[in-house]
Amino acid sequence: MTAPLCTIRFPGTAYLPIQVPPHQPLAEVLTVRNSPILFGCRTGLCGTCLVRAAGDMGPPDEDEQEMLAVLAPDCPTARLACQIDLTGDIAIEEWADP
Ligand code: FES
Repeated sequence: MTAPLCTIRFPGTAYLPIQVPPHQPLAEVLTVRNSPILFGCRTGLCGTCLVRAAGDMGPPDEDEQEMLAVLAPDCPTARLACQIDLTGDIAIEEWADP
């Protein structure tokens, strides 16, 4: 039996949704597929992949929470795309300061 695919959408852009199996590393998936999200270190340290994300994904771990507290305090939808554990459909927007 095949696991259901997760859909990644990019609201507000012309980028087409991407479908991938759950728990795929987004840094790899979004680099090889056409997406507006850029990556640097891919290990949660540089902040290049800071985005606003909503949908079905695992919560940020302690290290990601520490980075988000510095990069995007008081923004509950901020995530580091390279650290997202995809569990279902999500929407990702490029980071823009409010
Ligand atoms: S690519 Fe560096 S924090 Fe995600």
